[in-house]
Amino acid sequence: MKLYHIIESQQFNKKDLDELFAKADDIEKRSHSESTLKNKILITLFYEPSTRTRLSFESAMIKLGGSVISTENAANFSSAAKGETLEDTIRVLNGYGDVIVIRHFESGAAKQASLVSKIPIINAGDGTGQHPTQSLLDLYTIKKELGGIDGLSIAMVGDLANGRTVRSLAYLLGKYRDIKIYFVAPKNVKMKEDIKEYLKKQRVFFEEKENLEEVASQVQVIYQTRIQRERFLSIEEYENTKGIYVINKEIMSILPKDAIVMHPLPRVDEIKYEVDSDPRAAYFRQAHNGLTIRMALLSLVLENR
Ligand code: CP
Repeated sequence: MKLYHIIESQQFNKKDLDELFAKADDIEKRSHSESTLKNKILITLFYEPSTRTRLSFESAMIKLGGSVISTENAANFSSAAKGETLEDTIRVLNGYGDVIVIRHFESGAAKQASLVSKIPIINAGDGTGQHPTQSLLDLYTIKKELGGIDGLSIAMVGDLANGRTVRSLAYLLGKYRDIKIYFVAPKNVKMKEDIKEYLKKQRVFFEEKENLEEVASQVQVIYQTRIQRERFLSIEEYENTKGIYVINKEIMSILPKDAIVMHPLPRVDEIKYEVDSDPRAAYFRQAHNGLTIRMALLSLVLENR
């Protein structure tokens, strides 16, 4: 696979995904990391908060023998605060490192950065657009937990209009056979039309639901998401939307015994702590897979370059 910029999930075909997951499996099997990225520098440029994405990318780079320079609050502490354009920031950073991982509050920002960058750009989440590396680790988690992806039935639950992780995951699932997706969301945050149009074109079965109990017994994965307060224009609308879907012991009693619960995290109150000890709660294993997938991605982007 020739991997350079990582901007959106659609850019990966099934063969690429097989190669990425094989590389991740190989990394997991090794007892210690090889310093294949010695003398390479990762730049993390985050205009929005992050725990998992930034720190797992940074850990991944260090484990591969490379170094990291970072501005974790770029909106306030980079020269963006003085009015510098994203393009100028990227042009300057091109001289300081070998790859840029960027999170931005505007959809399309990573693409915009890639258009002026001579080093690879990795999209770590662009507003309500996409979060491709999250969807890659999500798919890897499904494969590891359930043994395969073809034939999967999944309920994507919560804030589907603002959730970039579910958008990216839907694009990837569209590449597999016999997938069934249930979009479970209240009307004001239901899945956007562009994703539904894509799934129709790919002939992927999907249904929109408002009742989680109705589908919980029929799926192998519940992919729960947070209602994203920061994306709502009014606090009243946020307050009326949050808390509608909560994974608790009652939902777990309906979920099949071999199903799993996933969540990109962070969670607020949409998965009760009482669920954490259930072996089907896969969300922390999922977060840990982020390190392996990001090691595999950095290796594919930077090795032999
Ligand atoms: N899942 C995810 O993107 O988490 P962070 O916001 O903590 O990076």
